[in-house]
Amino acid sequence: MFRDRIKISGLDISPPLFLAPMAGLTHSALRQLILDFGPVGLLSTEMLSASSLPHENPDISPYLIRTPRERPISYQLLVYRADHAEKAVEKILTLGADCIDINLGCGAPKVVKKGGGIALSRDPDRLKEIIRRIKELCSLPITVKIRLGQRSDTSASTFKDRCLFLQDLGIDALYIHARFDKEPFARPPRWEMTVKAIESLSIPAIINGGIFTIEDARRCFKITGADGIMIGRGAAIRPWIFRDICLCLFSKEGAQAQAPDLPATWLKFFQYLEELFPRERRLGRLKEFTHYFSQNYAFGNRLAMSVQRSKTMAEAKIKALEFFSRNSE
Ligand SMILES: Cc1cc2nc3c(=O)[nH]c(=O)nc-3n(C[C@H](O)[C@H](O)[C@H](O)COP(=O)(O)O)c2cc1C
Repeated sequence: MFRDRIKISGLDISPPLFLAPMAGLTHSALRQLILDFGPVGLLSTEMLSASSLPHENPDISPYLIRTPRERPISYQLLVYRADHAEKAVEKILTLGADCIDINLGCGAPKVVKKGGGIALSRDPDRLKEIIRRIKELCSLPITVKIRLGQRSDTSASTFKDRCLFLQDLGIDALYIHARFDKEPFARPPRWEMTVKAIESLSIPAIINGGIFTIEDARRCFKITGADGIMIGRGAAIRPWIFRDICLCLFSKEGAQAQAPDLPATWLKFFQYLEELFPRERRLGRLKEFTHYFSQNYAFGNRLAMSVQRSKTMAEAKIKALEFFSRNSE
């Protein structure tokens, strides 16, 4: 049995399972679908640009639309200038956030060029100033999400020093995506490289990367000794994964999870999109989700392709229903 609850500053996290921020995927429809199966310790938004966030309307912005049941929730900021923090944090506070995360792992050229994501993680003075400013502006727990660093100059020991530096900046927890900067997601994660750092930290360390099954989760906890795990793509493929891990790793009986009804799950996601999102914001998100969800089927690429080619939500639904009727177990 693993520890079934942790604290991030004053925030209770139980179970210690975290939904990863994912652009185009970690939105209200996916969060609700996941919650239909069971609790998640901490939900997340996708990354939100600190400069444009203050101008987003939470009633229609696909990044901010949220229902009251989606809690506790962390808002992830993509920030590269301390003077952008004030209005962004002000906005986040009006939205009822439970936690603020800073993106230090994004390696997209557009982001890096401006000095965000991994570029900010390599600029200690600017990072220090940004964290200091955010802490001045609010009393919410502050986390950062990092990668392992540059392959050429990172060892378990230098990574540990970097984590301790971040801890000294006053953050309340650390999310570690266990891949080097810019390393593709297809590559197996390097969980073992995080062990030294996790042993040395006094704040909670949450590991991310490559957790798709209950067995992955069990191995990740065992190998790393992490306080929690964060799941990204695995949550879009199997929105019930948090429930399954919770039942197997944190419940006393070691209960067995029920097999999900795949067509009903896809249709529920479709329904959440239709209920919550402006018309023009639905189809792209359906395609993105289906790309991952279709991996539950042996010939799922046919489902993904037919939804991908659809011009409307209605057409995508017809195509998906045809696929489900031909692929019922
Ligand atoms: C489509 C997609 C979008 C992502 N967007 C973000 C993001 O907005 N912020 C972030 O910190 N990481 C982002 N990531 C990285 C994930 O949070 C996570 O670190 C990565 O997918 C590895 O975890 P996994 O193996 O569980 O998927 C994204 C990943 C994917 C696949």
